[in-house]
Amino acid sequence: MIAYFNGRFMPKQDICIPVDDRGFLFSDSLYEVIRYYPGGLFRPNAHIRRLNHGAGHLSLACTDFSYLIPVAGDLIHQNQLESQDALVYIHVTRGIAPRNHPFPVPTPAPTIYMGVSLFDTSAKDRQRKTGIHAITVPDIRWSRCDMKTTGLTANVLANQQAAENGADEAVFVRDGVLMEGTHTNFMAVFDNIVTTAPLSNYILGGITRDTVLALCRHLGIRTSESPIYENRIHRASELMVTGTTTEITPIVALNDQPVGNGRPGPTARALQDAFTEHLSF
Ligand code: PDD
Repeated sequence: MIAYFNGRFMPKQDICIPVDDRGFLFSDSLYEVIRYYPGGLFRPNAHIRRLNHGAGHLSLACTDFSYLIPVAGDLIHQNQLESQDALVYIHVTRGIAPRNHPFPVPTPAPTIYMGVSLFDTSAKDRQRKTGIHAITVPDIRWSRCDMKTTGLTANVLANQQAAENGADEAVFVRDGVLMEGTHTNFMAVFDNIVTTAPLSNYILGGITRDTVLALCRHLGIRTSESPIYENRIHRASELMVTGTTTEITPIVALNDQPVGNGRPGPTARALQDAFTEHLSF
């Protein structure tokens, strides 16, 4: 695979990152995952806006990564993935400096990596049809989940816990409120209203979440960006997760309790159809 590294295209296996890179030492870094559908990238500008948001808050030396959008297109082309399903991974770190907590002086150039990979969608397609099982876990993450930093230890542990319990995703619960999944946003349907956590520093502003809310408006489905309380979750007729790799995937069991009738519900299916239609490249 050809990848992009600090301004150059090169074979991925030839890329070396010094151990003093702050991404390695401190997870002082941000990432994005952008879906490529045969024909085009999915909302690349929105992904770059989110990356820029994080870079601004972290005071990285570069806070405008819009020049990476054509680079992503180049990588898809160079790796002959134009007619395939693929993922673009972007990773930006503060750069290289001897280990010391404050921002290094002088400011190093950020380390910028972008890679692409073929995305085998078969397992995800199956999950979208049949639905997935999820568990809830305490949200032990920090309070800046709006930035897509690479410090994902809590997400890794939670997702592993899901796997060990025969589930596919874990949903973080903070102070009795279901926030989001380990790599997805979370939605519940109460009385035909699609409800999802409001944007805050406690969740990532998902691009798919945003698209799904827009599709709801388009379909005339009511939405509410408000807290989803753990003690009311049994009243939801449907649950679902949304994300770049999951699109819209129904949750058919939460903590081993069936959701609704235990099958993907009509709202999720209508949104999946609308999402597919929306992808008209
Ligand atoms: N994760 N919440 C979290 C914590 C996430 O990590 C993600 C995405 C989302 C969904 O955001 P979006 O719709 O923009 O993909 C929500 C990516 C896909 C990942 O970590 O692989």
